[in-house]
Amino acid sequence: MLSPCLAVNEKGHLAISGCDAVDLAGQYGTPLYVMSEDEIRRVCKSYVQSFQRFYGGHGRPIYASKAFCCKEICRIVTSEGMDVEVVSGGELYTALQAGVQAGRIHFQGNNKSAQEIAFALENGVGDIVVDSLWELRLIERIAGERQMAAPVSLRIKPGIDAHTHDFIRTGQIDSKFGIDLVSGEAMEAVRLGLDLEHVQLKGLHCHIGSQILEVEPFVHAAEVMLELFSEIKNQLGVELGHLNLGGGFGVHYTQRDDAAPYEDYMAAVSARVHAKCEELGLTLPEIFLEPGRSVVAEAGVTLYTVGSIKEIPGVRNYVSIDGGMFENPRYALYQAEYTCLLANKADKPADYTATVAGKCCESGDLIQEHTPIQRPQEGDILAVLTTGAYNYSMASNYNRNLKPPCVMVAGGESRVVIKGETYEDLVRNDV
Ligand code: LLP
Repeated sequence: MLSPCLAVNEKGHLAISGCDAVDLAGQYGTPLYVMSEDEIRRVCKSYVQSFQRFYGGHGRPIYASKAFCCKEICRIVTSEGMDVEVVSGGELYTALQAGVQAGRIHFQGNNKSAQEIAFALENGVGDIVVDSLWELRLIERIAGERQMAAPVSLRIKPGIDAHTHDFIRTGQIDSKFGIDLVSGEAMEAVRLGLDLEHVQLKGLHCHIGSQILEVEPFVHAAEVMLELFSEIKNQLGVELGHLNLGGGFGVHYTQRDDAAPYEDYMAAVSARVHAKCEELGLTLPEIFLEPGRSVVAEAGVTLYTVGSIKEIPGVRNYVSIDGGMFENPRYALYQAEYTCLLANKADKPADYTATVAGKCCESGDLIQEHTPIQRPQEGDILAVLTTGAYNYSMASNYNRNLKPPCVMVAGGESRVVIKGETYEDLVRNDV
């Protein structure tokens, strides 16, 4: 199985953290997002322990909540010692409502509005990650009006080309994110950040992309960033205290994904960070990482009921489900790979080739094409694995479909953490 929280039980059914998937579908209906609390906590613990091991606790992992933002997940990750990253007023509001300490919230985003910045400052957010010189000046003005000093770091584009899907690559020069290193813009931003009266420059940040399966791009990014720390020290006589190396660690969507264990990234990157600090005569800055996908992806399974089956001889077999791109748009957007199986036949051979189709009025509304599953029948429960990241958070109401509920499972028990939408919810804001 792809994730430690998954098993096949004595009935031959898929089980998630000890809960029978077929029973969950019966109890809560489908489509249904299922998240394993045990698995989320296991990953959080491994990040927190790695920070102890490799940096002597000098820094912290931050959960990038864009992967899955709801109150209960914010509570779980912070109870394990992680900070929370948010990228909008809405994510910030959710984290605050969940009781996350504002000082442990990091606010990202390439075009934050004046209202969002004011909201963050008024609530005492710990770190605003600034994406441009324009934003730095905007923060100076907003903080100045409130007679405050805004804690900020600068997002730098280190010019690293990580091998992943084009849409989710962000560290290279042609990117809408961050301040350019190569042109000298980064030094200009650091100078400005140190000069301005109402900002307190704490450090630098970079993020090179997402679903990265190799270790080397992260090591390289850390090196480039520490060289910039050294240049700042030499030219301006200032040693910055924070270095945030972003997120992006890959996960297993299928058996083919050769994702390194997080400890391997941490070991390789920290070894280079320590060596580079030594070589450049730098004091080790506090190190932060910002994983999203790797914290929640493998904890998630989505359950559906199979409806219409259309076998087109010599073409393909459409197996339609009661969900689709409105609750998982990742195949439609990125041709993202997934592992599918029939939860009520999990012990049977996957000897049927299916194109799993959603119910939206759109030919591209597919969850997976030509994928092996057990021989399907109407009423079977289809499970899609590794759906914990960027599924619920990217869901929409396309075709006025309802966003499904989410249940959290742990030690054989289940509870609703996000209620399913109702038709009334759909028209609530219509006038
Ligand atoms: N930090 C920053 C600044 C980011 O932009 C991101 C992701 C992360 C951290 C977390 O990266 P992760 O550990 O989750 O890879 N919707 C796409 C993924 C977009 C990622 C955007 N930024 C998908 O479904 O694959």
